[in-house]
Amino acid sequence: MQTLLPSPANMAICFFLLILILIFLKLIVRPHPVKIPIKSRHVFITGGSSGIGLALARQAAAEGARVTILARNLKRLEEAKTYIRLFTGIDVNIVSADVCDFEAIKEAVERAGPIDVLICNHGYSAPQELENQHLKEIESLIDVNLIGNFNLVKVALPGMKNRSDRKPVSIALMSSQAGQVGIYGYTTYSASKFGLRGLAEAVQQEAIVHDIHVSLIFPPETDTPGLSEAKTRMPQLTSIISASSGTMRVDEVAKKTLNGIKRGSFIVFCNFEGFLLWIATIGASPQRSYLMAFVEVFLASVIRIVTLCYLCSWYGSILKWHAKKNSK
Ligand SMILES: NC(=O)c1ccc[n+]([C@@H]2O[C@H](COP(=O)([O-])OP(=O)(O)OC[C@H]3O[C@@H](n4cnc5c(N)ncnc54)[C@H](OP(=O)(O)O)[C@@H]3O)[C@@H](O)[C@H]2O)c1
Repeated sequence: MQTLLPSPANMAICFFLLILILIFLKLIVRPHPVKIPIKSRHVFITGGSSGIGLALARQAAAEGARVTILARNLKRLEEAKTYIRLFTGIDVNIVSADVCDFEAIKEAVERAGPIDVLICNHGYSAPQELENQHLKEIESLIDVNLIGNFNLVKVALPGMKNRSDRKPVSIALMSSQAGQVGIYGYTTYSASKFGLRGLAEAVQQEAIVHDIHVSLIFPPETDTPGLSEAKTRMPQLTSIISASSGTMRVDEVAKKTLNGIKRGSFIVFCNFEGFLLWIATIGASPQRSYLMAFVEVFLASVIRIVTLCYLCSWYGSILKWHAKKNSK
């Protein structure tokens, strides 16, 4: 009787091919793997007085990093400092500046001293359909979420390049899942966060010779004051679509972020939907791990089908919502 099982010879050939592919991927993945130590090093976090930034600052301080947090509101910075001291017994350095003000950021970075890990986490979403969003708000979102990152990276790079300690250093940019896929009502926000990807990929190429490693973080909705504020004005369809990835706790997102930075991962995702989006949108992003590259290569087409199902559901929701509205 004929069996459906592959013959031992065929299995051996498949196994051999698999090993060959893994060896090939190990030879070609770039940049090379790296570990970024944070203990006793200077971690500079923008937007460190609230939400994800505050949780990052607390966790980095607890791991023995020397932490500086930057935001605009001095009172909230002082409250954050007290909160971190209560949790860790450690005092963080606080700096008040607006990321949109290049000169103020330059002065703040100079005052804080050479940076080993720069986490550009500041940002906000102000969800609204493009047609209804005021031009001033569009400009402000792009200014804070995108140009603010240019200001910080530009100002911090010289000091990071000329550091005395030759250990690898890191620049992390806080994007969003709305920076991987455009989401209804997150139109301006998505555009600003998509921009971070180009910045991150190109800066990684410019900075690699200086042992500077870039991470791009893609959190889903995270339970923070920023999200609560966004929810007060969120179009209903934005809530429906963004709910497909669930809401994460701020400490979990901060932990995944910090671990991703320490591993030197270029792309850092936080949940299962983040895993799907990572594969679906990988494009030509750097990859240090040959095992991760293997996952990317072999799951790409299957996950494209999954993303098509998500899109089918989202477009279905949009059309249904409009049909319901028009029937009233
Ligand atoms: N929460 C989410 O659902 C979510 C999901 C994905 C991605 N993200 C991203 O994660 C990051 C943090 O979000 P979050 O929800 O934790 O925000 P949050 O709770 O609102 O905190 C934002 C922080 O950024 C600071 N900030 C805002 N504008 C600034 C400016 N112009 N200059 C300097 N600092 C500024 C704020 O302090 P001041 O107001 O005092 O300046 C505050 O410390 C953002 O980039 C956001 O886009 C958030």
